[in-house]
Amino acid sequence: MAEISRHNSFKPVMACLSSGKGGVGKTSLTVNLAFALAQKGLRVLVVDGDLGLANVDVLLGLQVKTSIHDILDRDADPMEVVVYVEPRLGILPASSGVPDLAKLGPEDHQQLGSILLPIAQNFDFVLVDTAAGIGSSVLWFNTFVDYNILVLTPDPTAMTDAYALIKVLSRDYRRQTFHLLLNQVKNEAEARQVYDHLARVASHFLNLHLEYLGAVPQDASVSKGVRHQKPFIKIAPQSKAAMAIMSHAERLRGWAAQKAASRKTAGEAGG
Ligand SMILES: Nc1ncnc2c1ncn2[C@@H]1O[C@H](COP(=O)(O)OP(=O)(O)OP(=O)(O)O)[C@@H](O)[C@H]1O
Ligand SMILES: [Mg+2]
Repeated sequence: MAEISRHNSFKPVMACLSSGKGGVGKTSLTVNLAFALAQKGLRVLVVDGDLGLANVDVLLGLQVKTSIHDILDRDADPMEVVVYVEPRLGILPASSGVPDLAKLGPEDHQQLGSILLPIAQNFDFVLVDTAAGIGSSVLWFNTFVDYNILVLTPDPTAMTDAYALIKVLSRDYRRQTFHLLLNQVKNEAEARQVYDHLARVASHFLNLHLEYLGAVPQDASVSKGVRHQKPFIKIAPQSKAAMAIMSHAERLRGWAAQKAASRKTAGEAGG
């Protein structure tokens, strides 16, 4: 699998949201975190990394004409494929019902990386919504980004699948840091309990420390946002889920600030 180095000269912070299990809320949380970051003044790109079963465009009610598929297949200009839903928020859509895209090989991933890097330079933060499972593209996106965010619910199958993904990424791809985002929880205590359990198992069997990113409660405004094809942080900004997203986006903004600061220090040290 092609490894593209990420260093400080490369501007945006990149993070991907993955889960192992499907349907746990990756796309909803990615899209809403992106709106929240844009609201906080960052330029954000959402990459629909669910290459064969794209959902980001659907969640936002977009009628997209071109997608990552057109860039890979017929050299479409990547910046013309990006759809701006707000002045600071771009979406790089994928395609639905293209089975070949769901199982790209190493060379395709290398091509995808060389396409994404120049597009990413136009943004402060890149968020990738990946497919469920542990397919090759999910693994590749997870090695491509700076931050791995694992979305899971308190459902035991979601916990098991998140653990399986963490295991593969740490064992086979040497990823060391994972941030857990607990979704559809009853309360913070439940989220902490799930985190504590998984953190203990990961520490014991994989010798890994898992980070707690936060929790998003089970909240009807999330499904309402899906039905209305609008971000819930826009249509229900006072909802518990929206407030949780705003708070987690603040943490993500911190990652961007940290990267900018270390780049500045490196620049000063280099003269
Ligand atoms: N916090 C929440 N409260 C209530 N419903 C939620 C919450 N998070 C997600 N959902 C619901 O779960 C469903 C699945 O969400 P979403 O499509 O974001 O999951 P996904 O992980 O991207 O799925 P897939 O693996 O198929 O890509 C949606 O219908 C959404 O309304
Ligand atoms: Mg999804």
